[in-house]
Amino acid sequence: MAGMEVEKTYLKEVDRARRSLRALISSRQCAPIMLRLAWHNAGTYDAETRTGGPNGSIRNDFELNHAANNGLKIAIDFCEEVKRSCPKITYADLYQLAGVVAVEVTGGPTVDFVPGRKDSLESPEEGRLPDGSKGASHLRQVFYRMGLSDKDIVALSGGHTLGRAHKDRSGFDGPWTKDPLKFDNSYFKELLKGESEGLLRLPTDMALVDDPEFRPYVELYAKDEESFFRDYAESHKKLSELGGFTTRSRSKMRTTPTKLFFRVAFAAAIVLAIYFDVYRKMK
Ligand code: HEM
Repeated sequence: MAGMEVEKTYLKEVDRARRSLRALISSRQCAPIMLRLAWHNAGTYDAETRTGGPNGSIRNDFELNHAANNGLKIAIDFCEEVKRSCPKITYADLYQLAGVVAVEVTGGPTVDFVPGRKDSLESPEEGRLPDGSKGASHLRQVFYRMGLSDKDIVALSGGHTLGRAHKDRSGFDGPWTKDPLKFDNSYFKELLKGESEGLLRLPTDMALVDDPEFRPYVELYAKDEESFFRDYAESHKKLSELGGFTTRSRSKMRTTPTKLFFRVAFAAAIVLAIYFDVYRKMK
């Protein structure tokens, strides 16, 4: 029962945090950097050692100061405002929820959000996130390490429909699309057009067009936004749940039918034992 109470109050808190994030992201127009925060927290996952991943560790100065995370303090501070009014939500859930809300409020697909991530203060070593100046084999190395596929790589890269690069953060400069606050399939359309005045192309973006396995997905997503939204929502959910949830928080969040059956059976056994004990004494 106590577990179910925890679940109820926690789910209510997550709901409040979601509404608070919607308001904050709309008024500050910070969807792009919130999505980048969620991705940089999750994208350190290493499936082999089961380390890194969406566990809130990016808030540690050590990790936040990794070169790839330049500028993300802004998003951490925005999330802290929400954390102050919703203190029960874990940082791990908060950062992933921020990413999901960022996609939603800019017109993207609804990404299914399952709460229950536990916070960790253990940060991975530097160098797990992709380097924009490299090519297809580097992308595969990084995303396969997380346990993700070629399709995930292309669909998730579509996240660059939002936002821009900043010279003082990454050394790159400019937006990928003409409307960086709208989540749509324009990233793929622009990629297929080739050089476009004022728009950014990282070497890793070009790898998606040049690689024979990646390219068919780019072509599909450029002509069919519905397919992009469906695949993006699926890949984003996978990214946000890398490493699964800890057994403790999962069991807190969910009462499965099997668990319910054993609980009822256990309670029935106790009732029967008491009944027979009283019956024996009365005889
Ligand atoms: C595929 C490998 C990726 C590389 C090499 C890469 C690289 C970069 C770089 C260099 C920036 C510019 C940072 C700055 O100067 O402010 C950036 C920004 C951004 N990235 Fe990625 N990224 C990748 C994947 C992703 C994924 C998977 C997502 C989300 C699903 C994502 C979302 C974003 C967003 C939204 C921004 C804009 C941030 C802002 O406007 O402040 N990126 N990325």
